[in-house]
Amino acid sequence: MESMIYLDHAASSPLRPEVWQAMAEVVGTADFNAASMHACGRGAQEILERARSDIAEAVGAARGEVFFTAGGTASDNVAILGFARRRLAEKPLLVTAAIEHKAVLEAARQATREGADLEVLPVDEHGQVEPASLDAILESAAGRPTLVSIMWANNEVGTIQAIPELVEIAHRRGALFHSDAVQGFGKLDMRRDTAPVDMLTATAHKLGGPVGIGVLVCRRGTGLEPLVFGGTQERGVWPGTQNPVGAVGFARAVQLCVAERTSHIPHFVAMRDSLAARFLEEIPGLVIHAGGAAQRLPNLLSVGIPACDQATLLVALDMAGVAVSSGSACSSGTASGSHVLNAMGIGNEEDYSVVRLSFGPSTSDEEVRIAGDAVISAVASARTAFAN
Ligand SMILES: Cc1ncc(COP(=O)(O)O)c(C=O)c1O
Repeated sequence: MESMIYLDHAASSPLRPEVWQAMAEVVGTADFNAASMHACGRGAQEILERARSDIAEAVGAARGEVFFTAGGTASDNVAILGFARRRLAEKPLLVTAAIEHKAVLEAARQATREGADLEVLPVDEHGQVEPASLDAILESAAGRPTLVSIMWANNEVGTIQAIPELVEIAHRRGALFHSDAVQGFGKLDMRRDTAPVDMLTATAHKLGGPVGIGVLVCRRGTGLEPLVFGGTQERGVWPGTQNPVGAVGFARAVQLCVAERTSHIPHFVAMRDSLAARFLEEIPGLVIHAGGAAQRLPNLLSVGIPACDQATLLVALDMAGVAVSSGSACSSGTASGSHVLNAMGIGNEEDYSVVRLSFGPSTSDEEVRIAGDAVISAVASARTAFAN
């Protein structure tokens, strides 16, 4: 894999050496059961709590409001199903958006099978939720326990939602607000004083931390029903033996991301925008997804190419040593299978191909240039394949 140009950080961003080192440094002191009463257990717990404080600090929350889970999917499920199940007798309402990750959409659909109601807000052609549409739905739902769940930034096209405005509307209408912040965590300012969300989901592996650990940051008094049952770890929100070594890795990844934000973000934006400009010039008919959104993730570029065979394109890029994706790692691999693009009214044609390139801290200008060449030549062969 050494020789690959890896531009798929939105799927998973490889473990950073500094994270690896921070984790290695606590092996021998943190790799015990943090619930054990003996000194080894207490040592592990101390390290776990320090990591929890570091993550809390990144969003301006209290340490006790950070719950470690198994990742983004687990946190989204706990937030949505945990909220709904606690209030089933009052017929809760869930409001979400059509471009959410499946971890939110499927959890919300499960909640409807259990008795909750669900409203899915449409988005415009850039993937943006219209704040007035949220306001209208919440006005008609007055008096019911309601949770709004709208992602901070989209994983397929990068659209950033107007979270502060949406949170203000939800709170004014008496609803709680959850945001799946997986893609923007560490990169965007998510401090509570900017956007006072009630619950926030993040996962370590999107920012160079280990796979299999995430957090749900949850305001005190939110009231969640547990989804899994066992011990009292994570105050019952996510019971089971905790992962202090993973938590140290997550905390280190967040600290690095926050510290590097001012230097990395302008670099990401420059790489993203120069690549987009080059594609527009050299690939006839190419579409920049979410190009007109008020804000987009700095490290993600998603493009659509009509009259182009998706499979040929991705195989050609793989053979050229460039790792990119066709959208979400979890979707079917075709544009017409993307619920996000469908919601934006894009890419319904069978021959519409998508390439998502996403950068990480190690991405260089040279890699982006080579990847750009590879995409341009892969599109040429995939278009020939389509024409034949
Ligand atoms: C926006 C978003 N939410 C949730 C998830 C799921 O996170 P995890 O892989 O940690 O379960 C992902 C990962 O693909 C994501 O991009």
